[in-house]
Amino acid sequence: MQQTITFPSGTVNYLFNTSIDEIAALSNGRQVVVVMDSNVALLHKARFEKYNVLIIPSGEQSKALSTIETLTEGLLKTSAGRDTLLVGVGGGVVTDIVGLLGTIYMRGVSFGLVPTTLLGMVDAAVGGKNGVNLGLHKNIVGTITQPEFILFDTSFLKTLPHEEWSNGFAEIIKYACIFDAEMFDNLACNSLGYYQQNEDAFLTLIEKCVAWKNKTVLEDERETAIRKLLNFGHTFGHAIENMHGIPHGHAVAIGMVMACKISEEVTGLDKGITEQLKTILKKYGLPVQIETDYAKAMEILRMDKKRTGDTINYILLQSIGKAIIKPLPFSVIENTLSQL
Ligand SMILES: NC(=O)c1ccc[n+]([C@@H]2O[C@H](COP(=O)([O-])OP(=O)(O)OC[C@H]3O[C@@H](n4cnc5c(N)ncnc54)[C@H](O)[C@@H]3O)[C@@H](O)[C@H]2O)c1
Ligand SMILES: [Zn+2]
Repeated sequence: MQQTITFPSGTVNYLFNTSIDEIAALSNGRQVVVVMDSNVALLHKARFEKYNVLIIPSGEQSKALSTIETLTEGLLKTSAGRDTLLVGVGGGVVTDIVGLLGTIYMRGVSFGLVPTTLLGMVDAAVGGKNGVNLGLHKNIVGTITQPEFILFDTSFLKTLPHEEWSNGFAEIIKYACIFDAEMFDNLACNSLGYYQQNEDAFLTLIEKCVAWKNKTVLEDERETAIRKLLNFGHTFGHAIENMHGIPHGHAVAIGMVMACKISEEVTGLDKGITEQLKTILKKYGLPVQIETDYAKAMEILRMDKKRTGDTINYILLQSIGKAIIKPLPFSVIENTLSQL
């Protein structure tokens, strides 16, 4: 399926269920430079023989300004010009970097994204946000620029490690919690193995998540209001992700359970929903709690950019499919943590 959506910052062509070989046609005669990380290169570089390929080390550490500098040198060596098409093939690390590089190389060249992780397909490659880190400051330098196209070729997922599947499902479960009760029920009835074996169900799931993200971004590309809902599970999640160095999806899973517990107190969320969510998370290989230093987690929360004075904007659930943004006093969060 193909879909074109126009956002304030640009028009994106969504190519679902499409082979990577389509890049030749998409380039329309332009020079193509592909960027990928070392893991993806090892597994898939043979599919890009025709093109110049720039390879960066895999991992979050590559999301740094120094990588933008190295890639810029690489582009200059290939004589890339304003008419070059840059293609990012990889997980969120590569698509975030290529989004920023494409925005600033020669003040902007066309770029397309080919997400190769589940998390990239349902989240990172979609929505136009890009950026790199500086020290512990995550995504501190970046822009919102939409790619020319996003190509979804699920054959890349055949080589994806199991843990990365779970990480992707954490974000899928997030969309279900905040927007889609029917998806929540489907996830409860099915399993990771089911989606790995049933391509049609899996493609539908990816397309639904992309549709939810696009709907949100269309309304609020610059995250002044509704786009914030996508941070469900991410406030506490980011704090423990940094403290424990655990995978993002694991941190978000624990953060979503925490947000539900706070919701029980604040919005009157049915306790049964929190239990249902925990069952689903476990089914998809995700943790639901962590032994942590809660005082330290509170310290990190107090430094969060969503803080104003003694409150923090927290995403809570009223029910499955109905999320709200609520300024919460830190004392309410502390209170919930102390009862764990
Ligand atoms: N811009 C956004 O809106 C947005 C949203 C969510 C996350 N992100 C960013 O995305 C990043 C996380 O994305 P991610 O989880 O995809 O991480 P990632 O890019 O590091 O990929 C995870 C791992 O999978 C490997 N990999 C990628 N594709 C593979 C394949 N097909 N087969 C085997 N291995 C493969 C990678 O080499 C890496 O080791 C973070 O930096 C996060 O900040 C951005
Ligand atoms: Zn996330």
